[in-house]
Amino acid sequence: MKEWYDAIHEAQNVEKLEEIRILVFGKKGVLAAEFVKMKNASNEEKAEIAKDLNNHKTTLMNEFTARKIVLQTLELQEAMKAESIDVSLFSSSSQSGALHPVMETMDKIVEYFNSMNFAVKTGKMVEDDFNNFEALNLPKYHPARDMQDTFYFKDEMLLRTHTSPVQIRTMMNSKPPIRMIAPGAVFRRDYDITHTPMFHQVEGLLVDEEGKVSFANLKYILEDFLKYMFGEVEVRFRPSFFPFTEPSAEVDISCVFCKGEGCRVCSKTGWLEVLGCGIVDPNVFEAVKYKNVSGYAFGLGVERFAMLIHQIGDLRSLFEGDIKLLEQFR
Ligand code: PHE
Repeated sequence: MKEWYDAIHEAQNVEKLEEIRILVFGKKGVLAAEFVKMKNASNEEKAEIAKDLNNHKTTLMNEFTARKIVLQTLELQEAMKAESIDVSLFSSSSQSGALHPVMETMDKIVEYFNSMNFAVKTGKMVEDDFNNFEALNLPKYHPARDMQDTFYFKDEMLLRTHTSPVQIRTMMNSKPPIRMIAPGAVFRRDYDITHTPMFHQVEGLLVDEEGKVSFANLKYILEDFLKYMFGEVEVRFRPSFFPFTEPSAEVDISCVFCKGEGCRVCSKTGWLEVLGCGIVDPNVFEAVKYKNVSGYAFGLGVERFAMLIHQIGDLRSLFEGDIKLLEQFR
């Protein structure tokens, strides 16, 4: 019998213990077999053997029950350990993405002009000399070409230096009236805290019959637009020069940092320059063979808007893909 006590003690899991239970207590088990053998013994011996077997039966059953409780407890503990959640574990839980601040700003600009019925047009990033310069009243060797440091390819092809060629492409492909904006990437040989070789502009062009478009119309929509983008700011128009507009103006808003008091960002002037605009120069209409029309145009840098809206100090940081910066815009 000793081997069965040992077997019960050594069983390592409930399943094994159950196998032993059947071998010991089952109908064809060890105890049953011992009781069968007893038949051949004498009556005195029978009583003795039966008493002995019944004792074993009881103790084996107690041993079995005790071992079963131990094994069940162990198995439960194992299972709980395996299923438990370790809250201190590092998790690579999914992170939600977000629009890049430049794209978010661009979307907001486009949203405004869409609401004013301006259609979105796209041109080409690799442009030819005609669309980028010539048709915009910038003939070859014109000194104003120096305003924009250009990346050139062979055969007079270049990376567009502004979105203004989309004005030309649109007018060449459709009849007036026109009411369009052109958001997109532009390229210049420039790199410092306020310039990167690639940045984004949004161009605007409105063309209608002669005498129908005035500087007052331009002034109204740009003021309204700038208040939509920056909230309650002062807006001022300063005479300027662009070859493709006449008259031309640069537009300033009161500094969003110091509210016009004068600070480092606005170079103590209280004003921030945010876009260029003007009345379309007759030479531009001539280049696209438009007759008896008038129009206005404007262009702005999206990164500059994003920097002013989000108070970002260095333009280059927008293109470094720094998660710590980008996470703030989620
Ligand atoms: N194309 C000009 C620039 O890149 C901006 C501009 C567009 C000015 C349209 C006037 C009219 O600086």
